[in-house]
Amino acid sequence: MRLIGKLAIGTLIGTTLTLAAGVDASAQEKQITLGFSQVGAESAWRTADTVSVKTAAKDAGINLKFSDAQQKQENQIKAIRSFIAQKVNVIAFSPVVESGWEPVLAEAKAAHIPVILTDRAVDVKDTSLYVTVIGSDFVEEGRRAGRWLEERYKNDAGPVNIVELQGTVGSAPANDRHAGLIEVIKSDPKFKIIASQSGDFTLAGGKQVMEAFAKTYGKQINVVYSHNDDMTLGAIQAMEEAGIKPGKDVSVVSFDATKGGFQAMVAGKINVDVECSPLLGPQLMAAVKDVVAGKQVPKRIVTNETVFPMNVAAQILPTRKY
Ligand code: AHR
Repeated sequence: MRLIGKLAIGTLIGTTLTLAAGVDASAQEKQITLGFSQVGAESAWRTADTVSVKTAAKDAGINLKFSDAQQKQENQIKAIRSFIAQKVNVIAFSPVVESGWEPVLAEAKAAHIPVILTDRAVDVKDTSLYVTVIGSDFVEEGRRAGRWLEERYKNDAGPVNIVELQGTVGSAPANDRHAGLIEVIKSDPKFKIIASQSGDFTLAGGKQVMEAFAKTYGKQINVVYSHNDDMTLGAIQAMEEAGIKPGKDVSVVSFDATKGGFQAMVAGKINVDVECSPLLGPQLMAAVKDVVAGKQVPKRIVTNETVFPMNVAAQILPTRKY
C-alpha cells in the first residue's frame, strides 16, 4: 500500500511537472515579438513616445526589439530588413519621411509579417502594405493653428507676415502642418508666409533658422509658426538674442504641447500650443495583439487632441504627462 502510495504521488508530481513545463513552453511559444523602428531622439516628444512604447510593450508582455534610426530613412530600412530576417511577428515603425517605402514594405508582405505605422504615415499606392496607421491627424493640427490665427487677427487689417519653422523635410507632420495652415488662411490675402525653412524638429535647428529669419526680416515678422516645441524653444532664444519679445512683439504658434511648451506659455513666450500626443504605446500594443489574433483593426486610428491657448497654461501644466 505504502509503495503504491509513493508511486501514485511520484506519478502525480511527474505529471504536474510535465504539465507545468508544457504550459511554460506554450506560453513562451505564444509571446509576441515586435520589431519597432523609431525615428530618433530629436525632440522631447520623441523621447516621451519611446518611453511610452517601451513601457507599454513590457506591460503587455510583448518582446520588443527596438531600433533608433537617428532620423535617417536608410537606417529604418536596414532595421526593417533585420526584423524580417529575425522573423518577428509584427513590425511597427514611425517613418522619418513619407516617400520611398514600397520596396521594403513589399519584402515584409512577402514574408507575411504585418506592418503597423505609428505616429507618421507613408505615401504608398498600395495601402495593403500596412495594416493600420495609429497617430495624430497632422493636417487637422495645422487647421487648428490656422483657425487660432484667424481669430487672433480678425480685427487686424494686416499684412500678417508669417515665418514658418518646418519640421524634417518630407516628413508627414511637416507636410501636413503646412498644408493645414494653408487650407485655412488661403482665403484671406492678409496672411502671408514670407519665409519657410526646416529646423529638423530640433532645438538647435529652430534656433539657427530663427536667427537667420530675425536678421533678414526683423520687425516685419508678426507670427512665428513652428512645427514643434523643441524648434520653438530654440526660436525663442534666437528672438530674445535679437531683441524681439516672443509672445508680445510676435505671436508664437507651436505644436506638441510638451511640458517645455507649457512652461514657455506660462512665461508668456508661446501664444498657443496645438496638442500632438506621443503616448501611443498602449494603443500600439493593443493593435499588435489584435493583428496577431487575426482580428480586424481599423485602417486609421486617430489620437484625441486639443488646442491650448496661453491663458490656460498655468492651470493645465501640472497635469501634463510629457
Ligand atoms: O511626428 C511627430 C513629430 O515628431 C512631433 O511633433 C515632433 O516633436 C517630433 O519630432
